[in-house]
Amino acid sequence: MREEYIKKAVEQFEVLLREQLDRVDRMRAGAAPKDYDALETVTVGLIGGDGIGPIIMAEAKRLLEKLLAEEISSGRIVLTEIEGLTIENRLALGKAVPDDVLAAIKACDVILKGPTTTPKGGTMESANVTLRRELDLYANVRPVSVPEEGIDWMFYRENTEGEYVLGSRGIEAPGDLAMDFKVTTEPGTRRIARAAFEYAKANGKTNVAIVTKANIMKKTDGNFTRICHEVAADYPEITADDWYIDIMTANLVNPAIRNQFQVFVLPNLYGDIITDEAAEIQGGVGTAGSANMGDRYAMFEAIHGSAPRMVEEGLADYANPSSIFKAAEMLLRHIGFIDKADRLASALHQAGEIEKRVVVTGTKEGATCREFAEYVMEKLA
Ligand code: IPM
Ligand code: MG
Repeated sequence: MREEYIKKAVEQFEVLLREQLDRVDRMRAGAAPKDYDALETVTVGLIGGDGIGPIIMAEAKRLLEKLLAEEISSGRIVLTEIEGLTIENRLALGKAVPDDVLAAIKACDVILKGPTTTPKGGTMESANVTLRRELDLYANVRPVSVPEEGIDWMFYRENTEGEYVLGSRGIEAPGDLAMDFKVTTEPGTRRIARAAFEYAKANGKTNVAIVTKANIMKKTDGNFTRICHEVAADYPEITADDWYIDIMTANLVNPAIRNQFQVFVLPNLYGDIITDEAAEIQGGVGTAGSANMGDRYAMFEAIHGSAPRMVEEGLADYANPSSIFKAAEMLLRHIGFIDKADRLASALHQAGEIEKRVVVTGTKEGATCREFAEYVMEKLA
């Protein structure tokens, strides 16, 4: 019995290794990044998603229509709604992202996406993970700021490999042991490091924190650290410091030092965890936006989930659209509409943090999603 498991596992491992090496080849052969300025038309795909998704996305759409009114009427921007990325449809078809939905997404340049539910148990992968892989969205970019504390953080989380890429394809000897695999590739690490240092350079940042657990994960995190330093050598004006994820997690809750950090670059799973911690410091995971960026596509989303409990309790109309609005702001910035992104950021800040005349609480005592959206739109200068 044992010999049989070993033989099967070794065969499975060979398949994984070959697939991952092929992925390395594809990354090396990858095309140049898309130049949005050079595109005649930028197609923005809008995906409602599940639970509170369609409600917050309806407001995000109205907001974009208002901000981009001129560009939409001139044909420079096309907003297109993509149906079918719902949990019902995905379960019925047994696909994390149905083929026709994926094709519709690939026909767009950028995507704004509501939250999608991941079924517990079973074998269906999270739609997010599938889309990150299929569109090769290798940089998960998450800004967090607390101006009154001087906190202005930018997280560059590797988004396509690490613990996630083979997370559903581990090996098991039932009753004895289970093994999952973590993958760090040379080009995969180099491109996320490049993105983080380029961001730092373009935004006058002087420090990048490389966060791993390289003392324990010697091969994967060890290489991640080494490659980040190789990339850092091209940016002599920026210092690159090594940190371990455990102490960095502690540092983020230490008010005496946390505002010294600027840009973080880190492998997938550490980035997943620490960006929730960081968002909570900002005021809750519902307040942060998130961008998934690749060279050909970019997908922007709220950092929170589909909130099925709010829907069950009849509170879906009271969902907070702030996170998806921040994602919309990042989308505008990404496709080159810096002024519009700044206007939205300032309206959101005015409405949500300064004036607070209309407040969403997630309960019937608070404002509705629609009311808050109206308020933000009224604040657009
Ligand atoms: C995130 C989420 C996802 C992740 C889930 C929904 C698969 O937690 O975007 O941080 O683990 O990456
Ligand atoms: Mg997460």
